[in-house]
Parts: sequence; structure tokens; C-alpha cells
Amino acid sequence: MDHNTLFEKLWTGYSEMNPGAYRIHDLLKREGESIVNDHIAFRTYNIPGIDLESLSTIFRELGYIEQGFYLFEKKKLRAKHYEHVSDRLAPKIFISELIVSEFSRFVEETAKDVANRTLATISDSKELVFSLNQWQPISYRIYSDLLKESEYAAWMYVFGFRANHFTIFINHLKKFTSIESLNSFLKKEGFKLNDSGGEIKGTRDELLMQSSTVADMVEVKFIEGTYMIPGCYYEFAQRFTDNHGRLYNGFIASSADRIFESTNTR
Ligand code: NI
Repeated sequence: MDHNTLFEKLWTGYSEMNPGAYRIHDLLKREGESIVNDHIAFRTYNIPGIDLESLSTIFRELGYIEQGFYLFEKKKLRAKHYEHVSDRLAPKIFISELIVSEFSRFVEETAKDVANRTLATISDSKELVFSLNQWQPISYRIYSDLLKESEYAAWMYVFGFRANHFTIFINHLKKFTSIESLNSFLKKEGFKLNDSGGEIKGTRDELLMQSSTVADMVEVKFIEGTYMIPGCYYEFAQRFTDNHGRLYNGFIASSADRIFESTNTR
């Protein structure tokens, strides 16, 4: 499998949880655009076997190299980003992990259970990234209790291993040449953008500006019944060149911190 085949497979699992992403693709295609992804993001717990390093195995084998490390102190997350060694159009990969030992015993035990049940069903850490949720049936009570401590922990418990978001690379669009113009187009089409910390995260001086939709509400079956909860979101990124004319490929922790909130329950 090459990286593009993997991304197609990941897109399928992702867009099921984010029907809005299909619509945005269609709308942009009708405007004559072809879409390049800036990055694809994944979440996990830092339990050995399913942690950031394990999740990155498949990407490293497909030619991705670690390029940045990020710490989110308030949300108790660590993250790394990876870039493909030769394919300049390949999306960057952004993987974060929740530091579960900094939460209650309940969060830590739930994460361990998720890890054990996942590792019992996969034969290789390369399968992890699209293994979805192997700890069915899930409980709404556990989801709600996780939410009290960490929105991230709760999202991961329900949705598991799939792309959390894809990101449209605005630099490669022809008609929408700025994040402002893309945002107003999407709002006119009825999409709601995440406005935590303002609709646009980051500045031109930081060399990266990002925005995102709020996650679509999706129907999820729990032991206790069916509930509507936030699924995945779609992100948009515009990058700028530094003083040496090099395009910035990193991430801004303070901006990503707010983007994480796109899956907050409302
Ligand atoms: Ni992102």
C-alpha cells in the first residue's frame, strides 16, 4: 500500500463521521477547485502499543519523517508532525496523544481497556490507524464521565482510530486565495465555523492561519441507547513563506489548542 491508497481508505472512515466534508468537496469542485490536503490528524491515548509512536509506524514506513514536537499543557496532550520525504503534495501527518496518567484513575483505566481490546484484534501496529473502535459496545455513561475530565478522552473512546480531521490546503486553491474568502464562502453555504478564539487561528506573522467547521453531530449507538454527539470536523489552512522564502510547514501550538475544541459538545 502506498500513502495515497492509505489516505483514500482513511477518507472513507472519516467522511462517514463528517457528511459535511463531502458537501464541502462537492461545492469546491463545482467552483472549479481541486483539493490538496495540508494535513491529516489523529488522536490516541499514550498507552504503550497504541501511543503516538505506535500510531506513527505506518507513516514512517511509507516515507514520513518526524519534523515537529508540540506540547499542550492545559489539555495534557503531546503531538508530533511528520512530512513525506519526497512527495511534496503529500499531506503532513499530525498525531497527538493524551497523557492519561495526568487524569483520574477512571480515565487511565478506560484508556488501558481501549488499548487491551484494540491490541487483541490487530496483528501489527500498522493496522492501528484505521482500526476504528474495537471496544464495542460503548457506554454513554462512560462517555459522559470522560467528558467531565477531557473532551479529547471522550471523543477517542467513541470514535477510536480514524482520521479526526482532514485539512484543505488553501494555497493550492485557485479561486479562494485567502482563508477569509474561503470562510465567507462556507458560511454563505450554511456551514458553522469553530469560533473558539476567533474564526481564524494564527496570523500571517506566525506563517500559518487555520479555521475549521464545528464537528457534525452524528448518531452513535451506546448500550443505553442512541445519542447525537459531535463527530469529526473539517479544517482549512493557509501557509506563508518566511524571510528566506521558505514555506512554513510546522504547526502553532496555541492555534491547534483552539482547533481541538472543534469537537466540543455544545
Ligand atoms: Ni489540524
